[in-house]
Amino acid sequence: MSIQRLLILSLVVGVVCPDSDYSKVKLFCKDLPVEQVTCGGDDLDKQFSPSTEAYQICDEKTEAPCCRQNRTILVECRPKKDVVCIGRSRSLPEKWDGFEVAYHKELPCRYVTGYDYRTALILSVFMGMFGIDRFYLGYYAIGLLKFCTFGFFLLGQLVDIILIATQTVGPADGSDYLISQYGPILNKVGMENHTFYQYGSYYYKQQFLIHDEH
Ligand SMILES: *[C@@H]1O[C@H](CO)[C@@H](O)[C@H](O)[C@H]1NC(C)=O
Ligand SMILES: *[C@@H]1O[C@H](CO)[C@@H](O)[C@H](O)[C@H]1NC(C)=O
Repeated sequence: MSIQRLLILSLVVGVVCPDSDYSKVKLFCKDLPVEQVTCGGDDLDKQFSPSTEAYQICDEKTEAPCCRQNRTILVECRPKKDVVCIGRSRSLPEKWDGFEVAYHKELPCRYVTGYDYRTALILSVFMGMFGIDRFYLGYYAIGLLKFCTFGFFLLGQLVDIILIATQTVGPADGSDYLISQYGPILNKVGMENHTFYQYGSYYYKQQFLIHDEH
C-alpha cells in the first residue's frame, strides 16, 4: 500500500514539476558569456550626452546610470530570454525572461566636467607664456607664477605644452578632458593578469610536435 502511494506521489511530483531539468545548473549569471547577457541597454544610451560625448556625471538627483568620480558606471545586466543561471540574490537557478535584472556591473567611463582638450592645448601654445592655460585648467598658483615670469622664460611654456599634449596634466578637479568619442584620447597601457599573453596547451603541443619532427 505504501509503495503504491509512493508511486502515485512520484507521478504527481513528476507531472507538477516536469521542467526541473535545469535545477542542476550551477552557472552564476555573472559568469555568463557576453552573448547571453545584455548590460546597460537603452537607458545607457539616453545618458550619453552629445555635447560632452561622455556619460552624465552622477549627482543626488540622477537616478539613471551615470559616471561616478572613480570613472565607473553601474549598469543593469539582464540575461537573455530562456537563459538559465543563478541570479545574485537567489541561490537557485532559474529561466530568465529577458527583462529582469540579474546583477549589476561596473563599466569604465570618462568623467568629464567640461574642460576641453583642444582649448587647453591652443591656450598653452599661444597664451602659455602668460599662464592662461594653467588658469583655464584651474591651477591658479602655477598660472600666476607663469604670468609673472613670462612662462618661466618660455621654458615652462614648452614643458606645459608637452604635458598637456600628452594629457599628463589634466583639469585640476581631477576630471577627464572633453574629447570627442573618436578623438585623440590617450589610454595608459599596462599589463594586468588578464592581459598576460598565455600559451594555450594546444600551442605548446604544436611546438613540441614540430620539435619532435626534426
Ligand atoms: C566607485 O565608487 C562607488 C561609490 O561611489 C563604489 O561603490 C565602487 O565600488 C567604486 N568602484 C571602484 C572600482 O573603485
Ligand atoms: C595577479 O595574480 C597573482 C597570482 O597569480 C596575484 O597574487 C595578484 O594579486 C594578481 N594581481 C591582480 C592585479 O589581480
